[in-house]
Amino acid sequence: MSYYKIENLEQYFKHYKKSVREPRKFWSKIAEENFVWYQVWDKVFEFDMEESKFQWFVNGKLNIVKNCIDRHLAKRGEKAAIIFEPNNPEEQSETITYNDLYNRVCKMANVLKEQGVKKGDRVCIYLPMIPELVVSMLACARIGAIHSVIFAGFSSSAVSKRINDAECKFVITSDGSYRGSKTIPLKPIIDEALESCPRVEKVLLVKRTGSDIAFKEGRDIWLAPLLEEASNNHVAQVMDAEDPLFILYTSGSTGSPKGMVHTTAGYMVQTAYSFKNIFDYKEEDIFWCTADCGWITGHSYIVYGPLLNGATTVMFEGVPSYPTPSRFWDIIDKYKVTQFYTAPTAIRSLMTEDYSYVNSHDLSSLRVIGSVGEPINEEAWHWYNDHVGKKRCPIVDTWWQTETGSILVSPLPFITPTKPTYATLPLPGIQAVLMDEKRNEIEDNQVDGSLCIKFPWPSMARTIWGDHERYKETYFSKFPGKYFTGDGALRDEVGYYRITGRADDVVIVSGHNLGTAPIEDAINEHPAVAESAVVGYKHDIKGNALYGFITLKMEGEYRDRENLKKEINNEIASHIGPIAKLDKIQFVDSLPKTRSGKIMRRILRSISNGETKEFGDVSTLINPEVIEAIIENKI
Ligand code: WTA
Repeated sequence: MSYYKIENLEQYFKHYKKSVREPRKFWSKIAEENFVWYQVWDKVFEFDMEESKFQWFVNGKLNIVKNCIDRHLAKRGEKAAIIFEPNNPEEQSETITYNDLYNRVCKMANVLKEQGVKKGDRVCIYLPMIPELVVSMLACARIGAIHSVIFAGFSSSAVSKRINDAECKFVITSDGSYRGSKTIPLKPIIDEALESCPRVEKVLLVKRTGSDIAFKEGRDIWLAPLLEEASNNHVAQVMDAEDPLFILYTSGSTGSPKGMVHTTAGYMVQTAYSFKNIFDYKEEDIFWCTADCGWITGHSYIVYGPLLNGATTVMFEGVPSYPTPSRFWDIIDKYKVTQFYTAPTAIRSLMTEDYSYVNSHDLSSLRVIGSVGEPINEEAWHWYNDHVGKKRCPIVDTWWQTETGSILVSPLPFITPTKPTYATLPLPGIQAVLMDEKRNEIEDNQVDGSLCIKFPWPSMARTIWGDHERYKETYFSKFPGKYFTGDGALRDEVGYYRITGRADDVVIVSGHNLGTAPIEDAINEHPAVAESAVVGYKHDIKGNALYGFITLKMEGEYRDRENLKKEINNEIASHIGPIAKLDKIQFVDSLPKTRSGKIMRRILRSISNGETKEFGDVSTLINPEVIEAIIENKI
């Protein structure tokens, strides 16, 4: 019996039980039958719970790119691997076959090697959603370098922080990027970032917009002429199962962003397995995930998951509203997309448009539609079901995280009956549990608690780059022996999970994880600001938006409050990026604090959501009188 594809509900339960009772057998069978290895593992896994050290497929040798490309060439050489849809629909789209992808990745791998990139080196990739982004990721993986993709919407100071944290020596970027009607310069952002990144030796440049750029001799190099000259053959580097494949940064509730480290074999096995089952993938399918490769969703379900299965993956450079709000539907119709995977925030914004945008398109090619990144509210779920899926495509509401590497909780299409707003059941291998405040496992259903995973899984992040203690502390200390997700969840009477949201100070705005602490740090950089507290409040389209409560140092000097608000938001944009700007700013005389001096964000969160009646226990507040004034002046 093969465990790779689950065919029906009975089999799901069977596979699930097998994965719990005999995890070694379960995962080794999947790994053995569906991938190519230079050398098979000695042990399926080895854990040191005390130290939070996890290894999968111990001593296995492989190259993930051989699994993504080389092994498909004989059968699928002329099949489309990537369909690239540019920002501007007038520009020619591009179909990259598996043969083409092999040639392009080998050329890039050879260029990287020539430029001095070695196994284990970190390479920062700061590119728009163009094929070179995927080619660069795969070229790194082919030579054993660790890619660190940074979303091209981050500001120079956010970029330099990440480059320095990962100690990258190389950067791959482009002159600029296209997003909707805008042309955004990227190279100047890198130039500014690199002023404080002394380790970076080379910047490899892709030409995209043709904008003028400053060129630093000796450091900056155009890629195109090198690629042209390079050989299109390259023997993939032999990698250990536990060699790092990539670092990807995610926000923490405190402090600097966390560089989550994913390793090779476990990540490969589980992204491929989850892709196959959650999207009911079949050979002729055209799969489209609308995420950006700067996020984990792009890594796992634009690049690795689909290519490992020999699938055709659509890569879209633009935005859903350009040139019109029918762009998504145009693309589905144009390529006859069979699986469409997007975020609730996109659905909510498209829902506000005229129905005719979606209804005038032929979406009959769709078979499965998915949602990721934040809870999908009931209204959005129904709109998606009615207008996009036409009530015949199951919605897979997929719950997972940068840290988990692949989807852990999701319905299986045509197998698990869906329920609006529920991510439903854990995949085989995923032992999800709810914990109560006393740190006991909750056995009952129809309750909520902290969502934890009580047994390791292959695609879990292995550490935080350079800070294993923080990894232990963040994920394994609150509930010893269990992985704490940071999310709250509710379990219904049949055991379905519904994710209720973050239990920490991370706010998900339009599907982007934002830690409030770094935003407050940025605000506090403004000379007029004494103190600030940022919380998330419910927003119809973005899911959550940011509300800042700010006290000022210099009362008199900043009479123009509207201007001050702009300056504060500019401060945030330059430290983090425009995505972290505040929607609402309220200047207050003081912030509610506990006796130990901690700001009581819980109260501010309630106020920002318009809940001003009941604040629970406020006995620890030192200044309860400030609450009324804050409520009175609420925006
Ligand atoms: C949230 C994105 C509800 C959750 C893949 C998680 C979700 C965080 C869902 C991780 C979902 C993700 N329903 N909430 N289907 N999927 N989340 O690291 O709070 O960018 O902890 O990974 O997004 O965000 P990240």
